[in-house]
Amino acid sequence: MQENFAKRIAIYPGSFDPITNGHVDIIKRASRIFNEIIILIAHNPDKVYLFTIEERMEMIREIFRDTEGLKVDCYSGLLVDYLKMSGANIILRGMRALSDFEYEFQMALMNRRQTKNIETVFLMSGFKWFYTSSKLIKEVASLGGSVKSLVPDNVNQKLIEKYDVNNTRG
Ligand code: PNS
Repeated sequence: MQENFAKRIAIYPGSFDPITNGHVDIIKRASRIFNEIIILIAHNPDKVYLFTIEERMEMIREIFRDTEGLKVDCYSGLLVDYLKMSGANIILRGMRALSDFEYEFQMALMNRRQTKNIETVFLMSGFKWFYTSSKLIKEVASLGGSVKSLVPDNVNQKLIEKYDVNNTRG
């Protein structure tokens, strides 16, 4: 158990539908703490996704193309099973406003209930991204608003393509 923590491999699970600058900020800051981070596209049964798993993985891979110590993976089962399989025991999550707290607290406790020697480590969201969420970004983009400063360039482009079938917007 001690050894696993010493490896400092963190699993960063989420829907990433799509990845935002808030997520990117968490990953960059976490990469100074952990030796390896696996960005895991996991299944949230409460969500209907805009992007396919492949599209989400491709966008993330493009963003972190030149970054060492990062992997991108996907998994449709229980998060704790993925941790067991990968030999990691740290879950990384970002925490934004107070509204995130209860949801995150419940998940962290539920995960630890299933597997004792795992820890969820939270990084506070960067101030700039406090109110950034994939959900709101999609809503604004779907209605023709600009989300350029909230997502990486490749994601912005993909959102424009998704929501503008006739390519009438720039
Ligand atoms: O970005 P999200 O949608 O808030 O991420 C939630 C996610 C995907 C991390 C969560 O739904 C999850 O862990 N899904 C995998 C299945 C699982 O283990 N569910 C029990 C969570 S306590």
